[in-house]
Amino acid sequence: MSKQTDNSYVTVSGLTKRFGDLVAVDNLEFTVRTGEIFGFLGPNGAGKSTTLNIISTLLDYDKGDIRIAGHDLRREARAIKSLIGLVPQEIALFPTLTAQENVSYFAGLYGLGGSQRKQAVAEALEFVGLAEQAKKRAGKMSGGQQRRLNIACGISHDPQLIILDEPTVGVDAQSREHIMDSIRTLRDRGATIIYTSHYMPEVQEICDRIAIIDHGKLVGIGTEAELLAVVTDVKSIVVELEPQAGLAIEGITDKLGLLPDVRRVIADADGSQLRIDVDLAFSDITPLVKVLMEAGVRVRSFNNEAPDLESTFLALTGRELRQG
Ligand SMILES: Nc1ncnc2c1ncn2[C@@H]1O[C@H](COP(=O)(O)OP(=O)(O)OP(=O)(O)O)[C@@H](O)[C@H]1O
Ligand SMILES: [Mg+2]
Repeated sequence: MSKQTDNSYVTVSGLTKRFGDLVAVDNLEFTVRTGEIFGFLGPNGAGKSTTLNIISTLLDYDKGDIRIAGHDLRREARAIKSLIGLVPQEIALFPTLTAQENVSYFAGLYGLGGSQRKQAVAEALEFVGLAEQAKKRAGKMSGGQQRRLNIACGISHDPQLIILDEPTVGVDAQSREHIMDSIRTLRDRGATIIYTSHYMPEVQEICDRIAIIDHGKLVGIGTEAELLAVVTDVKSIVVELEPQAGLAIEGITDKLGLLPDVRRVIADADGSQLRIDVDLAFSDITPLVKVLMEAGVRVRSFNNEAPDLESTFLALTGRELRQG
């Protein structure tokens, strides 16, 4: 076994996975650093779950190298298994077993026994805020409680690498907050975390670095700021207008479009707002104001709008997150 030479916990290179003719994961390359929360972002069918299931040793792959904590995944899968806790996208619980029995089952799979197992189960339930529901059958729990129990099942053996595949789908705001806090706590205790969500604010809130994948390929990787920088050569100025009858908005947008550093001007349907996309170099709004004044436009407000991760995503993939 080779020692780790840097701070990478997971290194994936050239990873390819086919399902028949479909290339679900296409030459994927990324590194997850020790102790970080690494976000995995991509539209439906991008290949996120496939990649995470491969890393979790549940699914075989066609090509590529994966190293986890210095172990080669193909040759040392057994050693790797105990280091990983997977919280799968599909809730995997036994409905007729109690919360406690469910967690205990998974703890047993990871080799915990006796009093150690009992304690681990209690801690995991406590951790996800289900201590009081320990004796409740999983099938009788609410969707949000089942999500939390699903998490408890994946972490009771105190894994170094925790992989969470859409852990907050279908939970209410309070459970979501609880889950977010728990994930941060796990990271602060030293775990390395891979986190998948469609919910952009969540990813922005807790991830140290983010990989964006689409059609099985990596299209961007870095901190939020680094990802934003990829597409932030444009910013927008949003001008809210007073309602005004008979305003020749088309002539105005044409004039604005001719100003230096202005790339595009879009008026909304009822003429109450103008969106002006300008180069980052654009700083002086005087010429812009002049055009508006000369046209007799009454302005309610000017606002600068910086691109967010959602627009970055759109720019990198040409698709919105929820589209398939
Ligand atoms: N067992 C399988 N057999 C055949 N095709 C599969 C299988 N599992 C996944 N796929 C296909 O591989 C592609 C990637 O699927 P995957 O579940 O990894 O996407 P995802 O990014 O997790 O999507 P979602 O956001 O919907 O969870 C999809 O086109 C999917 O239909
Ligand atoms: Mg998935």
